[in-house]
Amino acid sequence: MTDLAVIGGGIIGLSIAWRCIQRGLSVAVYDRGGDDGAWYAAAGMLAPAGETSFGQESLTELLLESSRRWPGFAADLVEATGRELGYDRTGALDVALTSDDLAEARRLWTFRADPVPRTPTQLRDLEPALSPRIRGGAFIPDDHQVDPRRTVAALRQAVGGVVAGTPTETTTVIAAGIGTAQLTGLPIRPVKGLVLRLRGEPGVLRHVVNGYVDGRHVYLVPRADGEIVVGATQDERADATVTAGDVLELLRSATDLVPELAEMELAETVVRHRPSTPDNAPVLGRLPGDVYVAAGHHRNGILLAPITADLIADLVVTGRPDPLLAAFAPGRFA
Ligand code: GLY
Repeated sequence: MTDLAVIGGGIIGLSIAWRCIQRGLSVAVYDRGGDDGAWYAAAGMLAPAGETSFGQESLTELLLESSRRWPGFAADLVEATGRELGYDRTGALDVALTSDDLAEARRLWTFRADPVPRTPTQLRDLEPALSPRIRGGAFIPDDHQVDPRRTVAALRQAVGGVVAGTPTETTTVIAAGIGTAQLTGLPIRPVKGLVLRLRGEPGVLRHVVNGYVDGRHVYLVPRADGEIVVGATQDERADATVTAGDVLELLRSATDLVPELAEMELAETVVRHRPSTPDNAPVLGRLPGDVYVAAGHHRNGILLAPITADLIADLVVTGRPDPLLAAFAPGRFA
């Protein structure tokens, strides 16, 4: 029998298991080993200030701290496994199509550490494929990206694989995404997201592009092999239907920004569900007994994996909660 069971083999559960193993525990990760987690759809944007809103100071602090830990986390994982993660620090561009979109982008820049405003000409010098219609934007040097599918494959290798079945260990970490609700009674709901993958020759885009397009948001995440991830819809729904309207909305926004995307192959449409809490911040901490929880990461599971893993592994090993955990305690929903 191992010291610890981690229930959930997505990026959060695997990262916790890996950091616990590095702290000397023997760990079994319980998961069916498929691709039904939110990580499978995720584009892998590491955008610490891109996905929060007013009044979420503790979450913003957690996102920034996790962003600072990503370089070390990625380097350790590459060294441990010999696998590439697609971790890329080229930076992101915020790009607005209309004057109203530019006003909205500027409002959100107040949350950004260091947006560097750029004129349309400067943006098109950086990304010649951008539409001549764009009205402006900014370069965001601290927004990076990683490939979540490569990262999960590396983590599965680093923890020695996952096992199916029912845990028998007394100490348990529940990191089961939307499945956490059923296991713990915590209020974690599914938030549907559709993500597309386009394929073509590499080099259409080099930066992650956050688009503001006629009041809609779209992100474009280019991979070195020519894939461009286009996301994402967000709906309070539990079904997994790929609707024509959702595909249309994403492709219209994407091609308004970068017309030549219309020439690429639509290689994949994938729906997964973000595990989300009432305040859209994660639940991290201890439940009654030797049970810990790390779930509800909403739009930020990939970015928050390093900090979640460190905080939960330290909590399990030392029994002492880091002060950063206070704002994310499961008891806040009681
Ligand atoms: N983090 C991007 C998304 O949830 O769509």
